[in-house]
Amino acid sequence: MKNKVIIGIISILILTILLIGGYQYLQYTKTDYYKLSKVGYNHSEINQIKKLNQKDIDTITKVKYDRTIPTLIAEPDFQVTKFKEYHIYQKQHKLTAPETIFIINNELEKKEAFDQKKTRSYMAMANENKLSAAVAMTLVNADVPYSKIIPKLQQEQYYIEENLLRYINYYEKTKKEAPEIIQHVNSKIDHDFYTNVVETDTGKQEQMLVNKFHRLNEEYVPSDLITIEGNYTATKQTTIAYQKMKADAAKQGLTLQITSAYRSYQTQDRLYQDYKANHGEIWADQYSARPGYSEHQTGLALDILNGNSTLDTFGDTKEAAWLKENCQTYGFILRYEDKNKHITGYQEESWHFRYVGVPTATKIKQEKLTYEEYYAFYIE
Ligand code: DAL
Ligand code: ZN
Repeated sequence: MKNKVIIGIISILILTILLIGGYQYLQYTKTDYYKLSKVGYNHSEINQIKKLNQKDIDTITKVKYDRTIPTLIAEPDFQVTKFKEYHIYQKQHKLTAPETIFIINNELEKKEAFDQKKTRSYMAMANENKLSAAVAMTLVNADVPYSKIIPKLQQEQYYIEENLLRYINYYEKTKKEAPEIIQHVNSKIDHDFYTNVVETDTGKQEQMLVNKFHRLNEEYVPSDLITIEGNYTATKQTTIAYQKMKADAAKQGLTLQITSAYRSYQTQDRLYQDYKANHGEIWADQYSARPGYSEHQTGLALDILNGNSTLDTFGDTKEAAWLKENCQTYGFILRYEDKNKHITGYQEESWHFRYVGVPTATKIKQEKLTYEEYYAFYIE
């Protein structure tokens, strides 16, 4: 009797274990892992495939083993949502996984008739130089000779990838070294002055760039002009900064006096036409901006003297030296220096200060940049 009870309990236990085991096995055969391993995928391939969306996994469990699938998924630039597109495209064109990913991610197949040879060179250039596909494509399509200068350019602090084609063209033309190529192209002087001109973005406010490539329209007048000194006006921020600077200079026994500030388009036009009539265009262009191209129209530029010097003699005064040393503390930069005249297109102007705000002025002083270079790298 006792034995029968024990046998009964044991039987029930065994039956339960079998039932649970059977049920679990049944559940297991419903998993993706089981189905994929049945198709022939190994453990690590299954782990790749499991990254896909469920719909794609379901499809894969229903078709025969395909080694290219896990290889595609393992690519660094693989995007889950594009799996089907990659897979179909790869089959149709018999491409490698990296080629497929590169073409689809960059929508090359939509841009031009598929050209395997060209695509290979895009990829080679992009991979070798760590370039974006867009830049690599531009270079290949422009038939730029593969150039050793690329890695040197890329090491430069102010390298801007979108400028690469221009850097290379400038290099081919001038054979200059990488730092100069970067400086010149970023400042746009790979073009002639007053060509490739754009209307400047005045929304950048005290950081707007006005030079021989960035102009203001005829109607532009700063919205917050106030009297800065005598009959002169400037923007509010410029005025506040100047007054602080002037007061601090006075504490050192130095006198600052404004000789020009905001100038309208029409005033600038008269000035420039006078220079041109008296001295010719080449001379005029080194001393005066053409109308629409003057920082004075922004209300952010000040010509500062000391009350008893002229433009010609100001450079040798204590005031000029003090301003050059300290103006960034108040948010100003000395805009036209002799060493930068190839970039700005103007002779040295020891009197012309431009308000850009304290952080920008400080950085420009520290990094010894022209405003052209600063704007290209940090703002544009
Ligand atoms: N003299 C400076 C360049 C101007 O006319 O704006
Ligand atoms: Zn000026």
